[in-house]
Amino acid sequence: MGHVIVTGASSGIGTALARAFSDEGHSVTLVARREAQLREIAASLPGPSHVVGKDLSEPATAADWLPDAVAALGPVDVLVNNAGMQVIGRTDEVDIDACERSIALNLLTPLRLTRAVLPAMKAQGSGSIVDIASMAALAPTPGMAWYSASKAGLAAASDAIRGEVRGSGVHVVTVFPGIIGETDMGAKGLTRYQPSLALKMQPQGTAAELARRIVRAVARKSDRVIYPSLNTAARHLPGLTRWVMDRMTPQLVDP
Ligand SMILES: NC(=O)c1ccc[n+]([C@@H]2O[C@H](COP(=O)([O-])OP(=O)(O)OC[C@H]3O[C@@H](n4cnc5c(N)ncnc54)[C@H](OP(=O)(O)O)[C@@H]3O)[C@@H](O)[C@H]2O)c1
Repeated sequence: MGHVIVTGASSGIGTALARAFSDEGHSVTLVARREAQLREIAASLPGPSHVVGKDLSEPATAADWLPDAVAALGPVDVLVNNAGMQVIGRTDEVDIDACERSIALNLLTPLRLTRAVLPAMKAQGSGSIVDIASMAALAPTPGMAWYSASKAGLAAASDAIRGEVRGSGVHVVTVFPGIIGETDMGAKGLTRYQPSLALKMQPQGTAAELARRIVRAVARKSDRVIYPSLNTAARHLPGLTRWVMDRMTPQLVDP
């Protein structure tokens, strides 16, 4: 079985992914800032694991732990770029430093980690890169300009790299989660918009089911995961999606 790296494994979707890959018999490297949390999660996994306490919002040093991870658990078979942060606010009011950090964490670091693992994957003729983008990439969301930009950038890069590595044995999965309201990010995000029918009608999913679908997509070499599945319409109807987002996105509430 392979070596899977999950960034942002200390909570939410990342923890569910670490668990789902471990349950399938893979060894897992868990990366995030909260090292104590990671150690607790690692101890509860059925298989071998390696823990890396690291702030990934500095792209220049974001990959410097990789050689130790390879030494601990072997060549990387799956890289899951999951760590992320979300800035919600009016664009003329947001904390610009936090916004720039979000571009670094959500876009620059995943590309740097991909750059770091791809040569060995191509040399071994196998491997998967999993990029956790967001529905905000397919439906850029008022009040989330920087977040939408970071995730649209990651999704675009992910598609481009998939085409680039075609035939090499390496495979890229681009993931578009909709609202996963049970995670820290999902729960916080829901409180930042005024309650409305449009928000209530949004389908919501769970981290465990999303993780199950991602593990399956890696095994089947699917190109993308859009979950909840109802959101697939946004990919095929971009004009209508834009119209709806512009008119139906609820107003922000102050934090
Ligand atoms: N929940 C949703 O509705 C939703 C929807 C679409 C996409 N997503 C995406 O799914 C991914 C996971 O989000 P989630 O919902 O599971 O949120 P979450 O529970 O807040 O998890 C975020 C993870 O990222 C890590 N992280 C944050 N800043 C970091 C940093 N500077 N360096 C290293 N790790 C960092 C956090 O760990 P530490 O704090 O320990 O560092 C945590 O493990 C994100 O990329 C998010 O954009 C979520």
